[in-house]
Amino acid sequence: MLPSLRLRPRRRRSRRDRTLVNKTLFLLSAAALLAGCQMFRAEGPQATAELRPTKGNSATGTATFTQFGDKVRVHAVVTGLKPGLEHGFHVHEVGDCSSGDGMSTKGHFNPYGKPHAHAGTAERHAGDLPSLKAGKDGRAKVDVMTVAAGPASVVGRGLIVHAQPDDYRTQPTGNAGARLACAVIRRVAN
Ligand code: CU
Ligand code: ZN
Repeated sequence: MLPSLRLRPRRRRSRRDRTLVNKTLFLLSAAALLAGCQMFRAEGPQATAELRPTKGNSATGTATFTQFGDKVRVHAVVTGLKPGLEHGFHVHEVGDCSSGDGMSTKGHFNPYGKPHAHAGTAERHAGDLPSLKAGKDGRAKVDVMTVAAGPASVVGRGLIVHAQPDDYRTQPTGNAGARLACAVIRRVAN
């Protein structure tokens, strides 16, 4: 306390003063709680990919990749798939669809030199996603996996929808057949 304040006799705090203090404390803790919630909900960087059909095909759609802590959520909506069929779905190494058949994206994105496998296993290509399951409306939604800023970042990579299901075994492709749709994954400002 400052010496000047000590010169005056100490006055008991009025009830009104104490109520004000309590209200201030309450408001402060409410603000801290809100800030905490926002931190919990905060989304990290986002990327998006506009899937365009390759030559002679009609599959089209959008995929978004959103960072949540050390995980990435992938949400894909693809139309023009055959009802009831599964389609292999991967991030590929190169963000280049110029060849027209998807082959210019090269192989599965594999920064850590792993084998091809199911997205639910630890030892797999970073780019291995669960197959898209076409509903009768030709849509598929995938909530998964893999990608972050750094060596395994998907930004600038390719995204491919295949004609066939991924068998999650055949190396290094999953034997998912031709490439129906192709995209370059781009960072979204957020
Ligand atoms: Cu692929
Ligand atoms: Zn793979």
